[in-house]
Amino acid sequence: MTDMTTANFSGRAVIVTGGGTGIGRATARTFAEQGAQVLVVGRTAARLAETAADAPGIRPLTADVSAPGAAELIVNTAMEAFGRVDVLVNNAAVVRQTPLGDIRREAVEEMLAVNLLAPMYLTQAALPRLSENAGVVINVSTAIGQRGWPIPGTELYAALKAALDTLTRSWAVQLAPRGVRVAGVAPGPIATGIGHHQGLDAEQIDALRTTLIEHVPLGRLGRAEEVAFWITQLARPEAAYTTGAVLPVDGGALVG
Ligand SMILES: NC(=O)c1ccc[n+]([C@@H]2O[C@H](COP(=O)([O-])OP(=O)(O)OC[C@H]3O[C@@H](n4cnc5c(N)ncnc54)[C@H](OP(=O)(O)O)[C@@H]3O)[C@@H](O)[C@H]2O)c1
Repeated sequence: MTDMTTANFSGRAVIVTGGGTGIGRATARTFAEQGAQVLVVGRTAARLAETAADAPGIRPLTADVSAPGAAELIVNTAMEAFGRVDVLVNNAAVVRQTPLGDIRREAVEEMLAVNLLAPMYLTQAALPRLSENAGVVINVSTAIGQRGWPIPGTELYAALKAALDTLTRSWAVQLAPRGVRVAGVAPGPIATGIGHHQGLDAEQIDALRTTLIEHVPLGRLGRAEEVAFWITQLARPEAAYTTGAVLPVDGGALVG
């Protein structure tokens, strides 16, 4: 009898950007545990090496997804290593504070380049390969992109994720005839990512954590593995009738 826990992605090749930490690391490991070969991409070699440790199916690629030519480099590296690309997970992102009154150009440009333009170019570069294999693109969004948010500072981050959701829906429609599915997950507050908000001190991060939990009906932060679970589920062949959806994985934050 086939072991379904390891057979789902056997023979499949997956790219996960931002695979050195948090949700990306959990996603890469979940795919690898289910038989996939995974290319993890990030800027910090040591983090990627930790993701790949004890996981023979995971290969690291140190690259800045927003650099010119990065999209082609990533897809070419996956093709050289695995000979195919079946799943692309656009997960790498940065959070920069941009409250009205203190919107700085470099913060805006960095978030635009990493959070929106890089997924666009990478999807474009991967598309010919994905089309060959009835492939899947999963864009990692955020629950706060789908509602108004009272805390100043992350609204541009949220707006760029909302733009990514729009691409998810339109690409899903446009790529359906080519057999490529496109979906998203919209995490609520996940424990691993809270400390990554640049520009906040420890006290502000504590306050943010408390406020975030107040917005979550389930009353806790999520775990990276709980997001990775749905990313891999959406990529499975059994999810073949799902495209264009952006799934909240947020403890009920959107409906609460
Ligand atoms: N944690 C949350 O509460 C939460 C909630 C909603 C949505 N999300 C989304 O979930 C995704 C993962 O976030 P996370 O929580 O796991 O945070 P994270 O640990 O900060 O992960 C982001 C990853 O992206 C990589 N990265 C950043 N800029 C990059 C670049 N220019 N090129 C290549 N890699 C880059 C980082 O590695 P290097 O710095 O080493 O490059 C890091 O591994 C993001 O899309 C985020 O917006 C998170």
